[in-house]
Amino acid sequence: MKHLISMMDVKGHLEEIIDDAIDMKKNGYEKALKDKILAMIFEKSSTRTRVSFESGMEKLGGHAIFLGKNDIQLGRGETIEDTALVLSRYVDIIMYRAYSHKDMMELAEHATVPVINGLDDEEHPCQVIADLMTIKEAKGKLEGLHVVYFGDGKNNMANSLMLGCTMAGMSITIVSPKAYWPSDFYVNKAREMGSVEITEIKEGVAKDADVIVTDTWVSMGDEKEKEKRLNDFKGYTVNEAIMAQAKDAIFMHCLPAYYGNEVTKEVAHGPRSVIFDEAENRMWAQMAIMKWLLR
Ligand code: CP
Ligand code: NVA
Repeated sequence: MKHLISMMDVKGHLEEIIDDAIDMKKNGYEKALKDKILAMIFEKSSTRTRVSFESGMEKLGGHAIFLGKNDIQLGRGETIEDTALVLSRYVDIIMYRAYSHKDMMELAEHATVPVINGLDDEEHPCQVIADLMTIKEAKGKLEGLHVVYFGDGKNNMANSLMLGCTMAGMSITIVSPKAYWPSDFYVNKAREMGSVEITEIKEGVAKDADVIVTDTWVSMGDEKEKEKRLNDFKGYTVNEAIMAQAKDAIFMHCLPAYYGNEVTKEVAHGPRSVIFDEAENRMWAQMAIMKWLLR
């Protein structure tokens, strides 16, 4: 049985999943998951993850059940182990959006059906698979491209992007204040597959970019540090001047965006932005992920 907890879990299957997603989007799809049931546990807010999983599952002939943490007994102290064992008796896949990667691992350890990480504090693999699909649609390929990420180098998006980009044969630069540089654990894993550069912001840092990407400076769970973070990341806003360094680069953001902080609205809603294709592609990518997990 397979899980999707880290980007590493799709190693060797990444392009196959992306190509299936692109094919379903372009050519239509069959009810490949007829009568399959997905349980979705959410400890944090969500627009895209919730709706794209639910719509994707319905399109494939299955059904999705939304479980807010405080609506189920998990919120009153039932263990993750018992939650995993019980849900596995009712459903075919469990998607979990968690605060802690440790809790994610624990759910996967005890579930007897595939578990999908719908974001935790360390990774956001569904988003990055959708991002790679979006890059492949826009650029026609992945291999050899260069991604430049601005912002929090320690967050879930930075970690999954480092792994996903290098796995796909791309190189990545993380542009981040020193205090927010990624951990050796993720950098070393990514460097086993490809090139990762980490730097503070500097003149011309995006000049070789095919893709410029950013994410919120204040991830879910970091709210207590909001004021400090807004201050620490000053100067890292993706604006027209940064986009001008790489004239063919597309702009990406997993959303939700906070305009004026990590990106200007002008860039995010500008002609080189693919953020709404990227949001749509969450659905196609996750349809392909669920098919792959249940194959
Ligand atoms: N990008 C993303 O995961 O969005 P949501 O938080 O709305 O699910
Ligand atoms: N890094 C962000 C991603 C939101 C989809 C967060 O964890 O809040």
